[in-house]
Amino acid sequence: MRADITLIGGVGIDLGGEEVYMKTPYGKVKAEEVALAGREVLFIPRHGEDHLPPHMVSYRAILCAAKKSGARRVISTNTVGTMSWHQVGSFVVPHDFVEFTRSRPATFFEHRAVHVDMTDPYCPQLRAALKEGVKATGMEPHDGIYVCTEGPHLETPAQIGMIRNFGDVVGMTGYPEVVLARELGLCYATICVVTNVAAGMKKDALTITEVLDQMAESIDRLRDIISHALPKIPEVRSCRCGEALDEAML
Ligand code: HPA
Repeated sequence: MRADITLIGGVGIDLGGEEVYMKTPYGKVKAEEVALAGREVLFIPRHGEDHLPPHMVSYRAILCAAKKSGARRVISTNTVGTMSWHQVGSFVVPHDFVEFTRSRPATFFEHRAVHVDMTDPYCPQLRAALKEGVKATGMEPHDGIYVCTEGPHLETPAQIGMIRNFGDVVGMTGYPEVVLARELGLCYATICVVTNVAAGMKKDALTITEVLDQMAESIDRLRDIISHALPKIPEVRSCRCGEALDEAML
C-alpha cells in the first residue's frame, strides 16, 4: 500500500486495520494499514506492542516508517495536561513547542551539521484541517504551545510552576517527532486531547488513571475529528515543509 497519511496514535487509540511490520535502520515498526474517510492511512501505535514508555519510544524508527510508506503527511495524537485551564475533554492543535527532554535522539543527522528551520514547526495545512475536524464535531479548537517533558513520572508542582511560563499544555511524547518529520520533509501536526489539569494546579493528586479514564471518554470524538479532518487535507502541498533541507546544511 502507498499511504496518503501516516497517523501516529498515542495512548488509547486503535484503528483495527491490517497489521504490517516495517523494517527501518532504527528498528522494526508495527503498523496497521487502514482506509479511513477515503484516505489510505498507515496507523502507527506510538508505544508499540509492549507499551514502551515515552523515553524509550524509537521516534526515529516511527518517522522512518512514515517516510517509507510514501505518505508525505503525518498526523499524531497526544494526551496532555492543561496548564492554561482549558476544559478537560477539549482539544488543542499546537502551533509551537518547547521541550525539556534529556535522553532522546532528536536528529537523523548525527554526524553532519543540519539545522532545519522551525519558525513554523507544525504544518499550517494539517493544522487547519485538524481544527476544521474539531469544529465539525461541535467544539472550538485551541491553539497553544506544547511543552514536552521527559517523564516517565508525572510532573511536580514546581516543574509545572516553571513550565507554565513557557506553554499551555504538557505531554511527554510530542518531541522529537515534530523535528524528525521536518528533517524528512514531511508535513506534521498533532491533535492533543486535554485529559487533565496539570499537576499541582488543583488540590487533588494527579494519577495516570485520571488520564486514561478521560482518554477513554474522548476517544470516539477523537476518531470523529480525524475522520472529518482527513478529507479536508488538500491533495497538493502548499506549505514549505517539503523544502526544509534546502537551506539547512552547513
Ligand atoms: N503530564 C504529562 N503528560 C501527560 C499529562 C500530564 O499532565 N496528561 C497527559 N499526558
